Amino acid sequence: MLKGRRILLIVTGGIAAFKSLELVRQIRTAGGEVRAILTKSATEFVTPLSLQALTEDRVYSDIFSLTDESEMGHIQLSRNSDLIVVAPATANFLAKMRLGICDDLASTVVLATDKPVVVAPAMNVRMWDHAATQENIITLKDRNIKFIGPNEGEMACGEYGLGRMSEPTEIVNAIQSILQPNRPLLGKTALVTAGPTREPIDPVRFIANRSSGKQGYSIAEALAAAGAETTLITGPTNLPVPSGMRVLKVETADEMLAHCMESLPVDIAVCAAAVADWKVANKSDQKIKKQKNINCENLSLSQNPDILKTLSNADNNRPDLVIGFAAETEDILHNGIRKQKEKNCDWILANDVAMGTQTFGGDNNTIHFVSKKGTEEWPVMKKEDVAKYLAKKIIDEIGRV
Ligand code: C5P
Repeated sequence: MLKGRRILLIVTGGIAAFKSLELVRQIRTAGGEVRAILTKSATEFVTPLSLQALTEDRVYSDIFSLTDESEMGHIQLSRNSDLIVVAPATANFLAKMRLGICDDLASTVVLATDKPVVVAPAMNVRMWDHAATQENIITLKDRNIKFIGPNEGEMACGEYGLGRMSEPTEIVNAIQSILQPNRPLLGKTALVTAGPTREPIDPVRFIANRSSGKQGYSIAEALAAAGAETTLITGPTNLPVPSGMRVLKVETADEMLAHCMESLPVDIAVCAAAVADWKVANKSDQKIKKQKNINCENLSLSQNPDILKTLSNADNNRPDLVIGFAAETEDILHNGIRKQKEKNCDWILANDVAMGTQTFGGDNNTIHFVSKKGTEEWPVMKKEDVAKYLAKKIIDEIGRV
């Protein structure tokens, strides 16, 4: 999503500086390159070494250092980047930006740049509310500085209010919307379920299935890449946490449903999770002993909620487009058509998960697409390509372009 884009990250001295490490990880996962500048006070919160390890580049901090200036002068640092992000941006740094003070490398670079500048402020709520800061913000916004956050919440100082730095995901989204302003799903929201669910039998055992989560993760990534503000609600998988979206990890179907309902309203919902149909009604708080000789009669099951059906029938909050999968081992198209009607969703992607097809856990998928208008046979595709193809169909259906 940020492939080949060069981001210059300026970390200033606030307690939220620790989040800048995760920001670097997310920008890099999205394909971007990061070069970092630390102010002197930021080094009290994060070490140059940790940023250096994450950026895989040297970290700049001193305008009067001969090595810094000879290796990469301050003008060069700004010239060689596509965008500058200041995260966290302290009240002091915003004040310096407004006045054009350039008494260190970070402030000099922001004065010398003609590239877009994004700031993610983080400070105590009273410092944020202070007239001085508010006037600085108005002036900086007038100069086209893009503000992301701050968010409201509990602060490190114990107070509550506006002043928490935005989450790295929100910052990555802001960077993307500046660098790629014409993404067709910008302004749309999406929720994607993925992976298996785990239904506990006792504290150590569970019922689950072979879903890898690959298809759902790829769909969430394709929607986020197209600009949708995406929430991925995922059961346990071995996949790396994707960047540029909100990721909520769950274990059970009940947890997955609760997070889906809390995420509403959304424009698009894609249920790609392989939700267990059953949960254990009499799950044990203690590990069940082997000698008790457990058998199917004393393991009693109750039905899990149907998340796809619940979303498709959400009265006031029904997403504009609700999409489900139908993992079948026989009569795939027919079952897909039946499920689309039964669940009242808009589209069903029916796929063959019989032994030997290697759909579950594998890299490819063969989709029989069912909508209210009819059916389509898609060729065998990699799961990433199924995701891109589906995203394109979603864009055609509800996107702006
Ligand atoms: O009924 P079946 O499990 O075959 O339906 C599959 C579709 O329904 C998938 O999209 C799956 O994510 C969704 N589903 C769900 N909640 C369940 C069972 C399935 O959202 N409890």
